[in-house]
Amino acid sequence: MAPPEELRARLAGAGQSHLLRFWAELAPAERDSLRAALALLPAEELGAHCRRAAAEARAAERGPPERSGRSMEPVPAEFLGSVSRSEPATLARWEAEGFRQISQSKVAVLLLAGGQGTRLGVAYPKGMYRVGLPSGKTLYQIQAERIRKLEQLAGKKYSTTCTIPWYIMTSEFTLGPTERFFIEHDYFDLDKTNVIMFEQRMLPAVTFDGKAILEQKGKVAMAPDGNGGLYRALVDNKILDDMERRGIQYIHVYCVDNILVKMADPVFIGFCVSKGADCGAKVVEKAYPTEPVGVVCRVDGVYQVVEYSEISLETAQMRSPDGRLVYSAGNICNHFFTLGFLETVAQKFEPQLKQHVAIKKVPYVDEEGNLVKPLKPNGIKLEKFVFDVFQFSKNFVAFEVLREEEFSPLKNADTADTDTPTAARRALLSQHYRWALKAGARFLDENGSRIPEKLNLSGTEDPPAVCEISPLVSYFGEGLEAHMRSKAFYSPFILDESKIEMLEDA
Ligand code: UTP
Repeated sequence: MAPPEELRARLAGAGQSHLLRFWAELAPAERDSLRAALALLPAEELGAHCRRAAAEARAAERGPPERSGRSMEPVPAEFLGSVSRSEPATLARWEAEGFRQISQSKVAVLLLAGGQGTRLGVAYPKGMYRVGLPSGKTLYQIQAERIRKLEQLAGKKYSTTCTIPWYIMTSEFTLGPTERFFIEHDYFDLDKTNVIMFEQRMLPAVTFDGKAILEQKGKVAMAPDGNGGLYRALVDNKILDDMERRGIQYIHVYCVDNILVKMADPVFIGFCVSKGADCGAKVVEKAYPTEPVGVVCRVDGVYQVVEYSEISLETAQMRSPDGRLVYSAGNICNHFFTLGFLETVAQKFEPQLKQHVAIKKVPYVDEEGNLVKPLKPNGIKLEKFVFDVFQFSKNFVAFEVLREEEFSPLKNADTADTDTPTAARRALLSQHYRWALKAGARFLDENGSRIPEKLNLSGTEDPPAVCEISPLVSYFGEGLEAHMRSKAFYSPFILDESKIEMLEDA
């Protein structure tokens, strides 16, 4: 049977007739689903998207734009806070302010969880991944428990009952499994009405000559539109209205893969609120000049993240009189936004966000209808980035935190050198070991012998004793002395709520 004439003509006009190549072979249900998918992608928009993808890919091949003649400068000191260079009293003031906002239920967290996690290479959403902790917890569970603990801490501090709503942006790939996972785990004891999942849009993957790719005879290859798809998704799903209804004023946006993420960190929230910021970014000090992380800085007076590939070696190596790198503010995808800022971006600026090119291996059906898994990249995906909105901020701030306390992203499988499950597990267990020692704990091996303490752990070694502390017991190392001071624990040890009761009874 021939394809409907109107559809055929529209696709032909957009240079995409090949999408109907196998129409005659499709079962009725497959035809319906292809027609439905194409209905969501009006042919003119599809054609424009394919042309843009091919053009952007050609431009990307020519290399990053020349920066000479543009004035690049670091974030000015007055807009840059720092955990390590601030007085304890100042940090305490910011923390108290953050807790105050949380206690009034004005703070929400928003998780970006629509990515496909191709480098990690598992067939389910990254948040469901277990990095091999003694407790067996997944990233989602750790995050849920941090929210619960923070609600308790803020509530206790200001004698209120408060809520930190958890917005979770998913995609066609992650929504179903994430929803099922939360239901199976009873939302990790959070009130499910405060866990709001929504879906970002998808865009077709495109060949280098501007044709949408068929991944099956009746299915166009689609990919999520990048974590900057957030701003459209907020509007599509009326999330900003939901925030408004709940009285949310401040939103902490973060990525699913950072096992150390301090969600709704009161110090960060308090810092941003005290500075009257509409938009803020947590950063970590770059480890070395050529470290491949984006740097938060100003270019021609406008805040942005400049990719490491866009900075000359000479600029990357520049140092201030105190010996620190001038361009040291490494972006870690941890952002503060006011609701007003998100509303302005979503309503006014979203169409201006840059489309970034990702060149990927996209499985496809060839002209004979055979499924091909390409060995080299063959497809272009266009993505928007969440941090590209800094340029629209009227009062931008950055806040530098300690990498070993706050940043260890899970990107790759264990066969890679960095950002692996082993690295993430090690980062968390090293942090908990440091907290335990600071609280006065000692550790014993299976023979009851004391394990010598080691304070300065390098990022590439395991702590000498294994101690995992449930976020339900401690959010950032607080309150542990009461349970651990002058006590000896057999390694491996898990400090969770049930152990607290036992320690109190002992
Ligand atoms: P990455 O850029 O690391 O992508 O995402 P990824 O999908 O996790 O992994 P790869 O590149 O396929 O291996 C950074 C964060 O942005 C989210 C991810 O879920 C992660 O939290 N993200 C990414 C989205 O929410 N949507 C997207 O379209 C892309």
